Amino acid sequence: MLGFAGKVRSLTTVVHEYVTNTLDACEEAGILPEITVEIKDSGEERCIVKVTDNGPGIPKKLIGKALANVLSGTKFHRYMQQRGQQGIGAAGCTLFSQITTGKKIHIKSGTGKETYECDLGINIKDNKPEIENLVELEKSNFRGLMVKAEFGGVKYENSDHGVYEYLKRTALTNPHIAITLIGPDGKEISLPRSVNEMPKRPKQIKPHPLGLESSDLLDFAHVTNSSKISSFLIESFARVTPNKVAEIKELAPKIDLSKPPKELTWDEAQTLIATFKKIKWIAPEMDSLSTIGEKQIEAAIKNILNPEFMSVVERKSKVFRGGIPFVVEVGIAYGGNAGKTTESGAGGSILRFANKVPLLFDGGTCGISEAIRGLQWKRYNIEDFEKSPISILVSVCSVYVPYSGVGKQSVAQEEEIMEEVRLSVMDALRILQRYLSGVKSRTTAETKYKTIMRYVSQLSSDLGELSELKSADIEKSLKSLIENKYSKLFGQDEAQEAEEAKGVKEEAEEEA
Ligand SMILES: Nc1ncnc2c1ncn2[C@@H]1O[C@H](COP(=O)(O)OP(=O)(O)OP(=O)(O)O)[C@@H](O)[C@H]1O
Ligand SMILES: [Mg+2]
Repeated sequence: MLGFAGKVRSLTTVVHEYVTNTLDACEEAGILPEITVEIKDSGEERCIVKVTDNGPGIPKKLIGKALANVLSGTKFHRYMQQRGQQGIGAAGCTLFSQITTGKKIHIKSGTGKETYECDLGINIKDNKPEIENLVELEKSNFRGLMVKAEFGGVKYENSDHGVYEYLKRTALTNPHIAITLIGPDGKEISLPRSVNEMPKRPKQIKPHPLGLESSDLLDFAHVTNSSKISSFLIESFARVTPNKVAEIKELAPKIDLSKPPKELTWDEAQTLIATFKKIKWIAPEMDSLSTIGEKQIEAAIKNILNPEFMSVVERKSKVFRGGIPFVVEVGIAYGGNAGKTTESGAGGSILRFANKVPLLFDGGTCGISEAIRGLQWKRYNIEDFEKSPISILVSVCSVYVPYSGVGKQSVAQEEEIMEEVRLSVMDALRILQRYLSGVKSRTTAETKYKTIMRYVSQLSSDLGELSELKSADIEKSLKSLIENKYSKLFGQDEAQEAEEAKGVKEEAEEEA
């Protein structure tokens, strides 16, 4: 369920869990992340993974709960755009290491106040952490967290689903991070930082009543400190006022809103959710999201894919299920290192992201892939997507990403999200199309020019024989005539081309 299935996928999942945790922790602490991922072969289908970050570290008294206690995290019930949601990722890795090698994981943590090392395991009978070999390190400058763990049933592979691809894509949507990968062959690959600014901090907001399901309502009811259901609704959710509570009371008279929220039953929660849908609400706050940003996407694409052309589109935030804000950003890269390498050359590739985390698996069921699948590529001057050097980056950010499974590798097929993805990709493709049609007409002009030039000297000498004029003069005039006509179409230098591409982009944006 957590994504530890398949040897390559399991290893990528481990790296994904550690890296997303680092990014969340650094974002919260306002630190520009520096991450090193080291992978060593340690035998038949076994690897040692070491991830070191420069984040805030984890205090000693919390380390067991954080990394060796399933379903315990600091991000529960926080309605905020973050990578982690469930409190399963890190402990899932500890458990996976334990059941495939019988070993504990090793930790080093430096918080500024304390630095220590220890081994960690989980007592699986009662889901309790087991801490061993705890050593306090005096006078250490180490800041951050280092996790070293061995895993069985895993394989390092340089493929679309491998660790390198995962980290490369992470760098694309997180241009503020610096990542180094040391693979089993000892080679070091660095993905340097593309921008030196931290992304805007996402804002924590209260859930909107229209974005809730019965189970969410019950979850919130069980952790609230409010004494009555009525005050619980006002305090826990956005846009609920005493007036709205009065409306709820009128529409659902059987529910006793003065009883404690902990006594809310499943049936009552269902009735409340159905009642919410009958009420007119003010839309949720839309500035709770932290996008990657147009400039940042451009910088990252340039840094990593170095394409011949790119177009980036960010649309306004929208709402799905009536109450959950989300935003879609799209970047298209063409030529250079864009696309994927296939046996027959380049091929189109779709890079999916949710809250800036790359989604490498379960593409078949993902709402993002599904939204793009039906596009008519030919309309955008792309003959065959599967054979074009093109990368389409689609990023969906939301305070609540509707994943279609616990492994969090595909976005559910929510119609509103799919529609936004489709529109954004079409906007970006329209810009590319203008560029490609420019390239196409330049190529045609160049071919014509070369073909005509081939006949000039024969034609001039024939005309010289037939007329009183000198062949050399005729040739000179003909050449200048042809050059005049065609050089305008293809003789531009790179700066001119870039200027033109910018113009095309602005024009297309206006048109869009
Ligand atoms: N590198 C790190 N630096 C600081 N704190 C961390 C780090 N890794 C994990 N944590 C803390 O440990 C907790 C547990 O992490 P875990 O990955 O299990 O859950 P999560 O990230 O909250 O949710 P998810 O299961 O969706 O990943 C986090 O909520 C965070 O507070
Ligand atoms: Mg996590």
